[in-house]
Amino acid sequence: MLLSESKNFRWFFKLLNISITILVITLFSINFILTRGDVPQETVYTSNTPNLTRLDGVLPNMTYDDADRLNAYWTQTDLNGLIEPGCMNRTNGKVWCDFEEKGNDFKIAIFGNSLTFNHHKMFLQECRHRAYNVTMYSECGCEPLAALPDEDHCKRHLLDFVDFLESVKPDYAFIFTRFFATGSPFENNNTDLETDSTYKEMINQIHQFTPHIKKKLYILDAFPRTNSQYTLEVAKDLKNGRKLEEIYREIVQVDTYKLARFRTESIVKKCGSKCELIDYEPLLFNQTANRFEFFDSKGFLYFTGANHLSAHGMELVRPIFSELCNKLS
Ligand SMILES: *[C@@H]1O[C@H](CO)[C@@H](O)[C@H](O)[C@H]1NC(C)=O
Ligand SMILES: *[C@@H]1O[C@H](CO)[C@@H](O)[C@H](O)[C@H]1NC(C)=O
Ligand SMILES: *[C@@H]1O[C@H](CO)[C@@H](O)[C@H](O)[C@H]1NC(C)=O
Ligand SMILES: *[C@@H]1O[C@H](CO)[C@@H](O)[C@H](O)[C@H]1NC(C)=O
Ligand SMILES: *[C@@H]1O[C@H](CO)[C@@H](O)[C@H](O)[C@H]1NC(C)=O
Ligand SMILES: *[C@@H]1O[C@H](CO)[C@@H](O)[C@H](O)[C@H]1NC(C)=O
Repeated sequence: MLLSESKNFRWFFKLLNISITILVITLFSINFILTRGDVPQETVYTSNTPNLTRLDGVLPNMTYDDADRLNAYWTQTDLNGLIEPGCMNRTNGKVWCDFEEKGNDFKIAIFGNSLTFNHHKMFLQECRHRAYNVTMYSECGCEPLAALPDEDHCKRHLLDFVDFLESVKPDYAFIFTRFFATGSPFENNNTDLETDSTYKEMINQIHQFTPHIKKKLYILDAFPRTNSQYTLEVAKDLKNGRKLEEIYREIVQVDTYKLARFRTESIVKKCGSKCELIDYEPLLFNQTANRFEFFDSKGFLYFTGANHLSAHGMELVRPIFSELCNKLS
């Protein structure tokens, strides 16, 4: 009896031992998965600027309240919160300016609408080590590839963008732009690009740009705007437990961004090896959930109320430029 009991006990302990081992492995894996899940935000931080501090100041232990506070701050400071000093106006009578850099390799031009100014600081942090000169032309509200028919000043700036490249003659050029005209609805529902006046204007611009660019023109693809009436409510709604699907749906303004993408992607294809797309959609669109996600799990927004990228958005897209500029040859 005693013997059999002790035998049973031994068996029991063996089982217990196995269970504990399994439990430990399981807990360890869960912990591993959970900590891995946080990695993009915390430890893995690639930048071409040594010891760089994040532009957004977001820390792993922050809460919905911090998100609410910083979202409001980023909207309030907007473009002025992302200025790199030292851009010199060296070309008489022209609004563009340039940063003289210590890199040996290339002359780089960045141009487009306010998204250019929006990006310049992060761009310099990741790309200046490859450049001896980065010239910037940021034309508020006007795209380099097309202008709405009723916007005469933007029509004139189409020529200024050509003038800019002709004067700067960069090795590499980058268009940072948020769509307006390039997302115009098709006239008469005619989706044939060859007869589309916006597309023709874009082709014409590209044909005038590329001869002045020695190596390559990078063009940022379109992505949807945020519903700016709603942006500053996100963190509050998350805190109050509003349904996630509703929050995600309310913040995205879908409108015509697909048309802008269609035209931009077609232009880049037509341009051939001289042009290349930069696309933020994979970073903003969650394939599993099949939706755009314009803020992270803590409620920190990638955009400001003015539909520019926030400092947090800059950190989201930074790895694209850190990799891209390392590879320029
Ligand atoms: C970066 O930090 C390391 C370690 O603290 C330091 O040795 C190095 O000098 C720093 N580099 C720059 C460029 O500040
Ligand atoms: C969050 O982390 C930072 C730095 O790691 C620390 O200074 C701060 O006190 C922490 N805040 C809270 C509320 O734990
Ligand atoms: C200098 O360059 C900045 C940035 O492009 C521009 O906003 C400003 O108007 C320029 N200043 C002059 C005097 O041209
Ligand atoms: C940088 O570019 C600007 C304009 O393209 C030019 O005026 C300036 O002289 C250049 N500087 C250097 C060091 O190449
Ligand atoms: C375009 O197509 C839509 C749906 O097919 C239709 O409602 C609209 O009237 C059309 N517009 C024009 C200008 O033909
Ligand atoms: C994408 O959505 C799924 C389902 O809602 C979610 O579990 C996952 O964390 C999301 N991915 C990212 C990168 O946020």
